[in-house]
Amino acid sequence: MYAPLEFEDAHYSQIEYQRKQQQYWDSIRLAIFTLAIVAIIGIAIGIVAHFVVEDDKSFYFLASYKVTNIKYRENYGIRTSREFAERSHQIERMMSRIFRRDFPGSSRFIKSHVIKISPDEHGVNILVVLMFRYPSTSSTAQIKKIIENTFYQSLKIKQLPLTISKPSFTLTSIDSKKMRNLLNSRCGIRMTPSNMPLPASSSTQRIVQGRQTAMEGEWPWQASLQLIGAGHQCGASLISNTWLLTAAHCFRRNKNSHQWIITFGTTIIPPAVKRNVGKIIIHEKYDNKTNEHDIALVQMTSRVEFSNVVQRVCLPDSSIKLRPKTSVFVTGFGSIVDDGPIQNNLRQARVETISTDVCNRKDVYDGMITSGMLCAGFMEGKVDACKGDSGGPLVYDNRDIWYLVGIVSWGQSCALPKKPGVYTRVTQYRAWIASKTGI
Ligand code: ARG
Repeated sequence: MYAPLEFEDAHYSQIEYQRKQQQYWDSIRLAIFTLAIVAIIGIAIGIVAHFVVEDDKSFYFLASYKVTNIKYRENYGIRTSREFAERSHQIERMMSRIFRRDFPGSSRFIKSHVIKISPDEHGVNILVVLMFRYPSTSSTAQIKKIIENTFYQSLKIKQLPLTISKPSFTLTSIDSKKMRNLLNSRCGIRMTPSNMPLPASSSTQRIVQGRQTAMEGEWPWQASLQLIGAGHQCGASLISNTWLLTAAHCFRRNKNSHQWIITFGTTIIPPAVKRNVGKIIIHEKYDNKTNEHDIALVQMTSRVEFSNVVQRVCLPDSSIKLRPKTSVFVTGFGSIVDDGPIQNNLRQARVETISTDVCNRKDVYDGMITSGMLCAGFMEGKVDACKGDSGGPLVYDNRDIWYLVGIVSWGQSCALPKKPGVYTRVTQYRAWIASKTGI
């Protein structure tokens, strides 16, 4: 009775053993199969990622070359002159033509910035910063070769407006710090946090009845002029690493420099940078009844470091004349309704210049606008600076370089029809500013 059972038992365990072994190999096979699938998916993702999110990095170069078909002009030495602006823009357009098209990998070229135009016995010398984006794995030497080859190729096959002397061309790789220092030597340039110049602003947010606030680094010359203990009083514009321009009427109640401070950044609290005031220079002929010569200079006790959020604005040549209806921007921490509170976030508004003739009409400001004033806003009202914006900038964008054309000065209430904002006309005071600061 036991024997068959015993036999059966032995037989059973052999089958069981084979089954177990089969199972074992099955699971090994499954594991290998799974691993293979995972590996294939992984490689596929890797390949896709390599092309889609290829890790690009900025590469900067300083190029120098001679141009032989133009003559040097005195004003090329003055970076804010119209001659420099026009010539450098032509050069920057030409650099785009050289590098934009038929370039291996297409849009590797980002932008160029002319740093200097200097005299040379055979014409002029150009110093220009070139910005490219390449995969972070590329070597600088490799990129330099490509750029040089493209440059020489373009000289041969492209019709360029300027005659570049090929042997004079030199190219040096620079790091982002050096690039920033070179660009910072220019005024009126806005930078994004990644060191790329910000293009012209297209936004139309208002100070009065506005909603959105200004972006970080969009108006890096904007400062807040504050009375210790009483907070924000006025706006101001940075014109060098120690000097600011503001309105004279901001100091009507208090002229003691020890009681004032300057802050930078897009919020009043917290500020990005804070400085004490060393000197206040109010225009000698400021008249608080007529609002004439409403301009003042403020010097900080220590200089500021230029960065993405702190940058100086360009002062316009005294010869620059803006046509009526030119788009300009006003920024400030002022109230968004008449007699409203100060805003902690910087605001901006696009307004248009209005001719003095129109602004002096009987139904507008009836002859109160003098040659040192500039009207800007809209005849129908709606968009305007307001209380607390005083002293702040009215800026004009000429090819991504920003110029201070006005200082917020006065207005009847805010944003009323036929009562546009009145600004101090900065071009009228160009010589006065130079006489006090050397800028
Ligand atoms: N005077 C005013 C101030 O102290 C600002 C004047 C600007 N007014 C205007 N409607 N744009 O802040």
